[in-house]
Amino acid sequence: MSGGKHITPVVIANWKMQLGVRDTAVRLAILRAKLKNFGHQVKVVVCPSYMSLMEAKKMLRNSKIQLGAQDVFWDEKGAYTGEVSPLTLLEAGVGYVLLGHSERRQYLGETDVMVARKIISALSHNLMPVICVGETAHERNDGLQETVVRRQLSNALRSAPPPSLNRTVYLAYEPIWAIGSGEPAPADLADDMRVFIRQTLIDRYSLPLVTRCFRILYGGSVNADNVCDYIRPGGYDGALVGTASLEPSNFYTILTTIRKKFN
Ligand code: PGA
Repeated sequence: MSGGKHITPVVIANWKMQLGVRDTAVRLAILRAKLKNFGHQVKVVVCPSYMSLMEAKKMLRNSKIQLGAQDVFWDEKGAYTGEVSPLTLLEAGVGYVLLGHSERRQYLGETDVMVARKIISALSHNLMPVICVGETAHERNDGLQETVVRRQLSNALRSAPPPSLNRTVYLAYEPIWAIGSGEPAPADLADDMRVFIRQTLIDRYSLPLVTRCFRILYGGSVNADNVCDYIRPGGYDGALVGTASLEPSNFYTILTTIRKKFN
């Protein structure tokens, strides 16, 4: 079981490079209005593009929706053309950062070593890392999914500071073949990986620390119809949602579906 009855499920919207600043603001305004009386049973995080963060911060002032970024750099300051400092993210009101998303690994050459440095940066600035792991279709066909995820996890956590009760580390299992494909991982297979990830963490840190300091999320073609195959008491603690988070009404349906499940 990945959590007790007190765990609040979390849903993180990854808006990737899909929306400009204006569109981001429009959608956040709609979402904010929809969630006005939603309560606190589900934690909601939205990760717009970097350029939209300052506007998003304004839009989300005094709302329950929290702000995440899609990446962060490992240093605070310096000659790093095009990168964004954790300090700048803090100025933008960011509380979460996606790290090691497969699209960054695949298209931008992000390695386990780079991801590990970013995790240290995030944790030392009190940005909650959402560390993405997952295998390709090819690796799964070869039965290598656990080897790949174990390697990604151990490289990610090797030099990270020890778990601490005042911060949460999120691990998102996102099988690459399920991302943006409309073909989510079958629930039993996703659950096997959840158990595997949890056990790998327990072997490293101990059960009480894992229960208190880690949350495990599923991502990859999540929508309102399938989200409760993954997020349920005793299952995944949350979801990382791309496509189905872009339309506020779809995203809202996902949130209400989960709220019902946990009530
Ligand atoms: P998807 O994206 O929901 O469109 O599959 C998920 C992700 O990449 O985080």
